[in-house]
Amino acid sequence: MDRQLILYIAMSLDGYIAKDDDNIDFLFIVEWPGEDYGYAAFQQQVDTLIWGRKTYDKMLSFGIEFPHKDKRCIVLSRTKKGSDENVEFFSGDLKALITELKQEEGKNIYCDGGGELVYALLKDALIDKMIISIIPHLLGSGVRLFKDGRPEQHLKFTHSATYPSGLVQLWYEKHDKQDEASAAPKQERA
Ligand SMILES: NC(=O)c1ccc[n+]([C@@H]2O[C@H](COP(=O)([O-])OP(=O)(O)OC[C@H]3O[C@@H](n4cnc5c(N)ncnc54)[C@H](OP(=O)(O)O)[C@@H]3O)[C@@H](O)[C@H]2O)c1
Repeated sequence: MDRQLILYIAMSLDGYIAKDDDNIDFLFIVEWPGEDYGYAAFQQQVDTLIWGRKTYDKMLSFGIEFPHKDKRCIVLSRTKKGSDENVEFFSGDLKALITELKQEEGKNIYCDGGGELVYALLKDALIDKMIISIIPHLLGSGVRLFKDGRPEQHLKFTHSATYPSGLVQLWYEKHDKQDEASAAPKQERA
């Protein structure tokens, strides 16, 4: 099977991934001792990462050691060219890039957002799977995960998990008509 492009991201119940000023403190609400919501296991399944430039800049602003040295990291940007010590910048045909990546040998491809990148990927239905963690918080306004103007798309729900922190994780796959007769979705309580 081809490699899959997987969106793994957290959003507020009202659909935001950050405040307008890029503050993401609401994510700390669900910091729970010993609980990573499957993040480490997910990282074992991917070897390529794609970010929007603003998300990459946000990660750099933390001043921590680059956490994805083991992966090929691609940052979408029209303003930055070439590469830095961590990532390659890309401004070409996104559909062609993703199609080429999916045909290469390797593990899956991790999309970490943000909203502009997700918008660009969904325009061409390039995301194969979404693992979305819903934070029990209403942010009120901010950066939307799903921006307006995308084509309508039906998804196949495959899995959910609820956690004592109140986080609910929802797993969806790109809908394929042939899947309609397949097994019922799973529901788990963590
Ligand atoms: N809650 C979470 O789990 C989570 C996860 C990820 C991000 N975030 C937050 O989300 C915010 C950033 O999201 P965002 O939607 O504002 O921005 P983004 O998607 O991270 O980055 C947007 C930038 O990507 C580049 N870009 C987008 N589409 C492109 C295309 N088709 N071709 C070439 N370049 C393209 C442009 O860079 P240039 O301006 O350089 O051209 C654009 O300004 C940050 O606050 C981040 O912390 C939260």
